[in-house]
Amino acid sequence: MKDKLEINLGLEGTYFSKSEICKIDGIKGKLYYFGYSIEDLTDKSNFEEVSYLLMNGYLPNRKKLSDFSHQMAEQRDIDNNVINFIKRMVGKSHPMHILSTAMDMVGSYDKKAESDNELNKTKAINIISKISSITAAIGSLSTNGKYTNPDASISHIENFLYMFNGIKPNMEATKLMDTMFILHAEHGSNASTFSSIVTASTLSDINSAIVSGINTLKGPLHGGADERALRMLYGIKEKPVQQYINKILENNGRIMGFGHRIYKTYDPRARIIRTMLKSLLPNANDEVKILADTAFNVEKEMKTRMEDRHIYPNLDFFSGQVYRYLDIPIEMFTPIFAASRSPGWCSHILEYWKNNRLIRPLFYYTGEVDLPYKRIGDR
Ligand code: CMC
Repeated sequence: MKDKLEINLGLEGTYFSKSEICKIDGIKGKLYYFGYSIEDLTDKSNFEEVSYLLMNGYLPNRKKLSDFSHQMAEQRDIDNNVINFIKRMVGKSHPMHILSTAMDMVGSYDKKAESDNELNKTKAINIISKISSITAAIGSLSTNGKYTNPDASISHIENFLYMFNGIKPNMEATKLMDTMFILHAEHGSNASTFSSIVTASTLSDINSAIVSGINTLKGPLHGGADERALRMLYGIKEKPVQQYINKILENNGRIMGFGHRIYKTYDPRARIIRTMLKSLLPNANDEVKILADTAFNVEKEMKTRMEDRHIYPNLDFFSGQVYRYLDIPIEMFTPIFAASRSPGWCSHILEYWKNNRLIRPLFYYTGEVDLPYKRIGDR
């Protein structure tokens, strides 16, 4: 054991393993999945191909991609008990709670606890497929009370939107949602990925590790920020932006959708979503136009106050407006984040298991020892 005391609160700046999956350059504002830039992937690839990349470490040829897509499509069905559970819970519980329990139920049907690498890959593909079906079912059952059976003949994203809305999506909606899924698919050792690896490092099963990831993602400092950022914009839209921001900052509050532990420049994902949002505005309804206008005003105000502190919009700041363009309810933003992040979680779990070591950091104890124990009547 090392003698030197080094406490990194929040494990900031601490390496805990090597990885080939994701490179984040927080100074230049660059992001790569297995060496491919996020700009190229969102422009030229699709979610199934990105999932393949994250599962295998290389881009597939046509045959491999077709087999993989087929394998994913075959796993889209949801067990009736899970559907009935969702039906009972929608409207009573936040969709993230429902998603977490539903995904735990998926794991509880898996009797093959002892797993080799290939079997875990198969389980991962099942998870990536099912989490989208379940998210879409929660969205649909909570908005119109209907469940739409999956369609194995269409792409993953088309099927997601089909199960969500009950009608086949057009090309614009499919491309938008595909881009959002790719942008959210992976992001290094963020809190939810780390917590799924912690669970996996105990040799618990991959499903349980994913459930840990879902529950960690939910927090407002992480994936839950997308929902909070949009709620904040709704709150601001009729007030002077400056006044609103002043009030939050004076009370040491956070502007949701701003700041990042790694990016000390503009988040490349936020840049892509911002550009996409701008292109949507001519065809957007008044709600989206007002939200976007408010967001641009907040961004301008934050630039004058926070640029020297390197606090910029992150992934979650403009996402909500794109989701609202697609008529997605606010409470579904974070479940969609979870569905999109599932390949990243699975990829890291499988990589970590190749050289598994139980994660067990230390607390530096600052309490007392050998206190005299007094019986309850003597205290
Ligand atoms: N609004 C106002 N002040 C901020 C913000 C913000 N959004 N973010 C950081 N700061 C300030 C913070 O108050 C602190 O100031 P001081 O040094 O005076 O105490 C300083 O910047 C450093 O903050 P920190 O929390 O120690 O820094 P961090 O790099 O660990 O923060 C963060 C990362 C994401 C927790 C933080 O930026 C934050 O709370 N942002 C709002 C929530 C959010 O948008 N989360 C989504 C993150 S990106 C998507 C994802 O990973 O899920």
